[in-house]
Amino acid sequence: MSSKMTQEGLHVAFIMDGNGRWANFRNKARYFGHRAGAEALRHIVEVAPHHKIHTLTAYAFSSDNWGRPQKEVSTLMKLFSSYLRSETRRLRENDVKLSFIGRRDRFSKSIVRSMEAAEQETYNGKLLHFRLATDYSAREAILHTAEKLKADPKINRDNFHYLLTQSNGTVVPDVDLLVRTGGEQRLSDFLLWECAYAELFFTDVMWPDFREEHLQEALNSYYSRERRFGRIPQNANTG
Ligand code: IPE
Ligand code: IPE
Ligand code: MG
Repeated sequence: MSSKMTQEGLHVAFIMDGNGRWANFRNKARYFGHRAGAEALRHIVEVAPHHKIHTLTAYAFSSDNWGRPQKEVSTLMKLFSSYLRSETRRLRENDVKLSFIGRRDRFSKSIVRSMEAAEQETYNGKLLHFRLATDYSAREAILHTAEKLKADPKINRDNFHYLLTQSNGTVVPDVDLLVRTGGEQRLSDFLLWECAYAELFFTDVMWPDFREEHLQEALNSYYSRERRFGRIPQNANTG
């Protein structure tokens, strides 16, 4: 097991929102926004290791997104397939480990095969653990873990965390920074357990426009904050 790889560096999570509106502003079909969003993700995954990011989790498709019009869902599935085809080799060459979180049983067999192949081929990636959340619901994931542990008398936070977060053989630390693009300020059922003490950063930038400079802005904000985890500052007046 390669759990060691995630012990250093930041875990940054992205709710990649705003693709549809980005396309609408340009009088284009929503599909163009999703395609441009996939490009933005490619770019952010490439630059993330230069910013001490060691785990990156990106929300690509929520379980509630199945409720979108059939045409949008099927174009998203096609885009997902082509992303897997074009990215797996590049990720392996860049020493990136790719994992998927979320349900797999509602995807086509050929997509599931490509997901499994991508995970196997990138299993030994050490530079970055890139997790893509597809058909993902945090509440479902928590329920599923609770189901697995219900007969275990030794259930505690640590083993719950282990079972909930381990992906493709690697246990993942809590999220340090959660970034949501597209202007909304909500979690939309993403990483509810893992974000217990995450710093939150919301930006009006639409995901297809999100670049390294915006990532830098989010990180600057993160580093300017004091994380207290329920305690008081070290130099605080304790009286
Ligand atoms: C996020 O962009 C991508 C997915 C949910 C698949 P949206 O498609 O939600 O874009 P907006 O929020 O409608 O602009
Ligand atoms: C969250 O965005 C899901 C993804 C970015 C994949 P949504 O656009 O689906 O979320 P809501 O509906 O605005 O909460
Ligand atoms: Mg949206």
